[in-house]
Amino acid sequence: MADLHNSSTIPGQSSVPLSPRAAQPGAGGGVLLELKGISKQFDSNQVLDNVDLTLNRGEAVAIIGPSGTGKSTILRIIAGLLAPDEGEIYVQGNRREGLIEDSPDPVGIGMVFQQAALFDSLSVEENVGFLLYQHSQLPAHQIRQIVDDVLDMVGLPGTGSRYPAELSGGMRKRVSFARAIVSNPENPQDRPALLLYDEPTAGLDPIASTVIEDLIRAIQRNNGCSSYLIVTHQDSTIRRTADRVIFLHRGRIQWQGPVTAVDETDNPFVRQFFSGRVEGPIQMVQ
Ligand SMILES: Nc1ncnc2c1ncn2[C@@H]1O[C@H](COP(=O)(O)OP(=O)(O)OP(=O)(O)O)[C@@H](O)[C@H]1O
Ligand SMILES: [Mg+2]
Repeated sequence: MADLHNSSTIPGQSSVPLSPRAAQPGAGGGVLLELKGISKQFDSNQVLDNVDLTLNRGEAVAIIGPSGTGKSTILRIIAGLLAPDEGEIYVQGNRREGLIEDSPDPVGIGMVFQQAALFDSLSVEENVGFLLYQHSQLPAHQIRQIVDDVLDMVGLPGTGSRYPAELSGGMRKRVSFARAIVSNPENPQDRPALLLYDEPTAGLDPIASTVIEDLIRAIQRNNGCSSYLIVTHQDSTIRRTADRVIFLHRGRIQWQGPVTAVDETDNPFVRQFFSGRVEGPIQMVQ
């Protein structure tokens, strides 16, 4: 096995801190995350333009919108991996200064990346258990048991000894999902309070998608991580995992409402998106 205790940061993993954390006042409810006036530009491409977004504790919110509209960018800003050009980010009322590496947030934020971002040279078991090997005092056999249980949950039993190159794209996706939800039983209070899922069901067959969608809801119910933002293009995932939907396009929130309203609204962006029509206010970049 690779020497995981001396490894550096996980590729693409934000913060699922495993060190003891003091209980925070106000941890029981209210606003968990607030973005105020967030803007982000890459060269001349204004990707986010003065976006305000609030997520309450216990809320499940889907961010949807056409490809290239800034959904992954906003998740990376929320995770503290990318700095906005302008605007403020409050996590549980505390203003974030700089990136996550500069100062930790008062609660953990976990992220499932659009690209699986696994270590190619590590086995599935080592990838999923990476943070436990790196930061916990747990014996290896216990970490293996935890990893096996999580692999069962994502529908990949018995794959721990394989390497990422030996998996399909959808399997790699589920391994990265498993890595984001693995937690240290020594410090259950350190489970991330906010999970960010970037297209967790993209590339999965309908049954594997249902397994992941059910798991996202089960984690919300059972694991104390009741709040999440999910980016998805998949109709079933929007309907089965979101309570509220935010439609992002041209750098702005064009529409938001309860998931039940996506079929009722006459907002032209939402109508075009769900019908898949080429004609409409959303123009594909040629
Ligand atoms: N690091 C970067 N440098 C330059 N441009 C970037 C960078 N990251 C993202 N972009 C650009 O910002 C825009 C938004 O990208 P982003 O990945 O957030 O889109 P998205 O909404 O997640 O799209 P998709 O649905 O295809 O995943 C795109 O035009 C992309 O090319
Ligand atoms: Mg994206």
